[in-house]
Amino acid sequence: MTAPTALFKPLTLGDILLSNRIAMAPLTRNRAAAGNVPGPLAALYYTQRASVGLIISEATQISPMGQGYIATPGIHSAEQVAGWRKVSQAVHEADGHIFMQLWHVGRISHSSLLPDGQAPVAPSAIRAASKTFTAEGFVDVSMPRALSIEEIAQTVADYRQAARNAIDAGFDGVEVHSANGYLIDQFLRDSSNQRSDAYGGSIENRTRFLREVVTAVSDAIGAHRVGVRFSPVSGFNDISDSAPQALFEAAVTQMQAIGIAYVHVIEGETGGDRNTPFDYRALRSHFKGVWMVNNGYDAVMAEKAISSGHADMVAIGRPLIANPDYLARIAQGAALNPLDQATLYGGDARGYTDYPVLGQ
Ligand code: PHB
Repeated sequence: MTAPTALFKPLTLGDILLSNRIAMAPLTRNRAAAGNVPGPLAALYYTQRASVGLIISEATQISPMGQGYIATPGIHSAEQVAGWRKVSQAVHEADGHIFMQLWHVGRISHSSLLPDGQAPVAPSAIRAASKTFTAEGFVDVSMPRALSIEEIAQTVADYRQAARNAIDAGFDGVEVHSANGYLIDQFLRDSSNQRSDAYGGSIENRTRFLREVVTAVSDAIGAHRVGVRFSPVSGFNDISDSAPQALFEAAVTQMQAIGIAYVHVIEGETGGDRNTPFDYRALRSHFKGVWMVNNGYDAVMAEKAISSGHADMVAIGRPLIANPDYLARIAQGAALNPLDQATLYGGDARGYTDYPVLGQ
């Protein structure tokens, strides 16, 4: 291919200037240390990848009840804030920018991961046909219980505090994880939300929790530092909706009203088929801020997405795990390192901080 140029144009996001249009997608690596504090290699891992315009951290739980997998980091304790501060400082010293992805898994969890062995929480007591990773390996998720109205308000408050903690930890902003069948997505979609109160039923009601979370987070840290991630047609984690086009157009319209900095869309099945029918152009028409796309993009597709005006940024996942110098490689048309699937989740430096860069 001819060298990409659109990808290397700077972009203003909120009040920061990004040096290019590639984002590092949020990627779960299950290498947190005791107390779900970012592990000792996390600062090096992210700094190795700091040449991207924006790093989005791995999904990070807002509260102990928000955890769904073993050894994922949190942002609800002082130790976690201190651990993340080392990461943000190292990324900034390398002239990078980093947002934290705020995560509550809802029903995609297992009692063994939750305080006092509790059941996971969800909009409705409907178990997902999905698995999670625990100390015992891959297991079926537990049967959840439905959140009360008071608990929903507390969860919104937990998001607000987590956003404050992320800023306290030196992050440039946060991405609210509203994709992939986790808690906010469980409220949005009618397969997992069968509530009969103000949080269920109509699209207006099913988007209420999203709206409350994003409003609270924006009030706390400024909407210019907030992004939201959606996966409108992904069935990941056993989720679906009877009318995704109307649902997600309403959600994006509300994000525009709040005035957030960016919307990040997984096109198609998470990590899979991109061709599920959906009108992404209509989705984008409701939003004036930065539009970020993701899912299986290579450099040619990414360049075309930017130059054609399909998107403002492209988030790259697996290739960035295997190629810390992804930007340099696509600028030069160099070959990419292959990904080692065996070292994705958990473990040590192998497959984490030891992928070779050009010239090594
Ligand atoms: C995962 O841990 O497998 C995971 C986390 C967040 C996602 C998707 C997958 O959005």
